[in-house]
Amino acid sequence: MQAAVQAFPQAINVLGVDINQGYLEQARQKVVRYSGEKNIRLISCDFFHFEWKQIIDPMESPLLIVGNPPWVTNTSLSKLNIPNTPVKSNEQAFSGYDAMTGKSNFDISEWMLERWLDWLNGRQAVLAMLCKTSVARKTLAYAWKHKIQLDSCRIYEINAKKHFNTVVEACLVVCHLLPDHYSLVCPIYQDLDELQPTREIGYREGSVIADMGNYERWRSLVGSERYRWRSGVKHDCADVMELAATGRDGSYRNGLLEHVAMEAIYIYPLVKSSDLANGRLQKPSKHLLVTQKRVGEATHPIQKIAPKTWDYLMKHADLLGGRRSAVYASQPRFAIFGVGEYTFAQWKVAVSGLHKSLQFHVVPPFENKPTLLDDTCYFIACASEEEARFLALLLNSEIASAFYSAFMFPDAKRPVTAEMLRRLDLLSLARELGKEEEYRIYQPSILIQDDNPGHQLSLALPGVSEPDNKRLF
Ligand SMILES: C[S@@+](CC[C@H](N)C(=O)[O-])C[C@H]1O[C@@H](n2cnc3c(N)ncnc32)[C@H](O)[C@@H]1O
Repeated sequence: MQAAVQAFPQAINVLGVDINQGYLEQARQKVVRYSGEKNIRLISCDFFHFEWKQIIDPMESPLLIVGNPPWVTNTSLSKLNIPNTPVKSNEQAFSGYDAMTGKSNFDISEWMLERWLDWLNGRQAVLAMLCKTSVARKTLAYAWKHKIQLDSCRIYEINAKKHFNTVVEACLVVCHLLPDHYSLVCPIYQDLDELQPTREIGYREGSVIADMGNYERWRSLVGSERYRWRSGVKHDCADVMELAATGRDGSYRNGLLEHVAMEAIYIYPLVKSSDLANGRLQKPSKHLLVTQKRVGEATHPIQKIAPKTWDYLMKHADLLGGRRSAVYASQPRFAIFGVGEYTFAQWKVAVSGLHKSLQFHVVPPFENKPTLLDDTCYFIACASEEEARFLALLLNSEIASAFYSAFMFPDAKRPVTAEMLRRLDLLSLARELGKEEEYRIYQPSILIQDDNPGHQLSLALPGVSEPDNKRLF
């Protein structure tokens, strides 16, 4: 607060808000000498109970809200029993909470920044906040989506390790609000003193763009998804379903450190995102117990086909039955998700969803069985090794990297998403790389099989024969 008072000598009305009385007292001592020339108020209250709008509305423009809101998530606070969340009695807060994420964990500051923008919307004002870069980006996405009247925005990256001794991507986000202005871009500066931005993020066609330069350069490659990007198998019970081979035939060790022996029929080699990132593909270290070949398939036949496997599943029925995700509720016992014919393709091209180095790998079969991926990975199922190698070549090209950098936020929890992968039209990419003829050899079918049984969307390519279109991957 002292810094703000000194930096903006022209400001007459100054209001400081914090929940912590002790901090306010420290601030009071530091700004007391300005109280003759300024109207300074310090209020101790909870953001979520403070009538910001009633305070802001009568204030004269221009307004500046500057701050450093808490860098924590609601979940980490609730674990500590600190009730620092939007209150349920506050209707706006409650509906916003639901609408914001649809999931329970979010940054408290994300909520705060969005509310400040709402309250300042239509005014001549500036919002300047220190926060995680991911929070700044989500706030801008909110502003762009909800048509907040912004004249300009800037993000200045800061070294959080140096300034706050914390390892997180952090920034100062500055939003200039002005009535009837709707800026949809935000330059990113690498440091507070930098004069030239390194890139610009923005909003186009309902999506936040990570690099406007690369977006403009390569947007002609945005197109239909000719090859279908899939995510790997979801099972939510690694301790039971993921097995390490012990070296003895048919014997495995599970995550509970139990030695188990069962029939090979339901067991497949497994590659996880860390294996992809480290290039460990030739000899997968894990195996996966795969109870279904398609979503919804009955699992009780396992009892007859593979009695030892069934016994193993029954022994761990409590753990499998206790999986928290609601998707398992209406499914057969021991069900899994993310399975279909594509899962069992012998060759795949895969990428980790969790790593920021975007590297596409050819995933070969292992000991005559298709290698499966877990749900932290995305892949395309291929009909042959040649096809997989060709697609990996396209996807690892410099042009594909530049294209994807337009949509990828490396500091996100999941930097790579299916939505991002699906934007690139591989035929247009092949054309750009002078490889259209080779692409035509592999010509994908785009019979897109929905993961839900009973929903099949057939998008036959014009000029492609019926049998070709019937290929499922
Ligand atoms: C990251 S610290 C910033 C402290 C100080 N403003 C600075 O810049 O150094 C976050 C501040 O938010 C305050 N805070 C946390 N939850 C709050 C809430 N619900 N309402 C008001 N202030 C809150 C904390 O007491 C703390 O002082």
